[in-house]
Amino acid sequence: MIYQVYPRSFADATGDGMGDLRGIIARLPSLAHLGVDAVWLSPFYTSPQKDAGYDVADYCDVDPRFGTIADFDALVAEAHELGLKVIIDLVPNHSSDQHVWFQQALASPEGSPERARYLFRDGIGENGDTPPNNWESVFGGPAWTRITRADGTPGQWYLHLFDTSQPDFDWQNPWVREQFLDILRFWLDRGADGFRVDVAHGLIKEAGLPDYTPPADSGSMGGSTRPLGAAESHDGSGVHDHEYSLAEVFPEPPPTPPYWAQDGVHEIYRDWRALIDSYDGDRVLVAEAWVEPLDRLAHWVRPDEMNQAFNFAYLSTRWKADDIREVIDESLAAFIGVGAPSTWVLSNHDVVRHASRLALTIENPQGYGMGPKSPGRPDPVLGLRRARAATALMLALPGSAYIYQGEELGLPEDIDLPDSARQDPTWFRTNHERYGRDGCRVPIPWEADAPSYGFGPTANSWLPQPKDWAPFARDSQLGVAGSTIELYRSALGLRGGHELGHGTLEWLPGYPADVIAFSNGSVTVIANLTDSELRLPDGELLLSSEAIDGRTLPSDTTVWLRSRA
Ligand code: BGC
Repeated sequence: MIYQVYPRSFADATGDGMGDLRGIIARLPSLAHLGVDAVWLSPFYTSPQKDAGYDVADYCDVDPRFGTIADFDALVAEAHELGLKVIIDLVPNHSSDQHVWFQQALASPEGSPERARYLFRDGIGENGDTPPNNWESVFGGPAWTRITRADGTPGQWYLHLFDTSQPDFDWQNPWVREQFLDILRFWLDRGADGFRVDVAHGLIKEAGLPDYTPPADSGSMGGSTRPLGAAESHDGSGVHDHEYSLAEVFPEPPPTPPYWAQDGVHEIYRDWRALIDSYDGDRVLVAEAWVEPLDRLAHWVRPDEMNQAFNFAYLSTRWKADDIREVIDESLAAFIGVGAPSTWVLSNHDVVRHASRLALTIENPQGYGMGPKSPGRPDPVLGLRRARAATALMLALPGSAYIYQGEELGLPEDIDLPDSARQDPTWFRTNHERYGRDGCRVPIPWEADAPSYGFGPTANSWLPQPKDWAPFARDSQLGVAGSTIELYRSALGLRGGHELGHGTLEWLPGYPADVIAFSNGSVTVIANLTDSELRLPDGELLLSSEAIDGRTLPSDTTVWLRSRA
């Protein structure tokens, strides 16, 4: 099980309100205690932080806000001492506009080798004042920005699929490929156990950069056609059920956008795989690729490519038994079909936390976020109950599970974050139409009674923490039967003990349609998604997402039983 640390919000050793590597080191024992196998660190590189570090200005150094390279070395040493692997985030699709490579490109003439590192193009029209094509940035607004020449006249345009401060590299250029192989070597030599590869579906763009208009219902990152996070109404009002039109049941597959999932990306990862396999130990490449359907995503994890790919189809599935069974079947078939483990994930730093998302009453596309004026505000009690049931279900599945810092505390999305505190570029680039991702990035609470809930030694916190988070603090929950952290600890312990990650799933017949029931080796898992209680079969209770009487299984609850021999 891999635990995502979002460094700016995990633990702050200096007290400046921004988490840092020293803070992480101090808290590593608590992760070992939780029972994780590996940590994945979101970016800590030198960066102007226009996109929370996903805008890298130096790929081979640590931003002073987060510490030093010596701190990184100490972190790896301490993690390894505790038996934890360290996976770091690599951001190859784009750099920061402050990277020396981009600054040199700006200072060099059109057509120069420095310009050829990025995607500079002339504009359209007599004065070149129309962008080279109609692509839109994932964060909203055009994907092109025009530069100004040294003499003050308008110059070429450069492509940025994300913020204007994140120029896209030209991965057709062998020079770019060589630089990144060196960057991989740099971190592998320092003991990194692998890389989570950011936007791993985006590096290659279709030749000629043709115009593209996404279908109206596509998700922001990869053209997802699944409902993202919509839930059935729990009260039986049926508000969210609707008749499906023919077009919805048999949708035309959307054409692949010319900037996502181009075939040419695969040869890049084959080179990287050969490199990491030349190192000792089990080093891994994990694709952050918003690609559907799942059998297409599986191309990223063919035997000579990456080792794992995030399963966003699973994350995006609503709390409905049929949909969950279907996505599990599809995932196992697709990944096992190419010899890779399936992965499972419910939350990360880009989506509404699942303790809120699973009780949303309307769809919320990836990255849109939630704020005080968003419709479909979730019921927090129902959200947490479903989140605990969903996690207990996920942690029983064969494959690799990823969890995001704070979910083990049951943290909800911070929906009421003041607008003045928001920092996600999405919020600014959509003129405040989309709240963006700050609500899932608030520094996490460790101690109920300490300033900043023990996030750091002072009350500082780069995003304000809600006043009512004391009950979520780690020290409020540790050792308390039934708490969310104890549920995670038990589930992770049993998952390891019963080797569920390496097991085989078999659906169990004879249950109502809205009940998910399967066995994985010695464990039987039953999740009740109906509105009524279910009689439990006989069997030793190993785990329950809620306190139960042992005879009946209430709604929105998952149990693990020891399977009969
Ligand atoms: C990361 C985001 C980031 C984007 C651009 C994503 O997939 O997870 O947080 O904003 O890539 O780097």
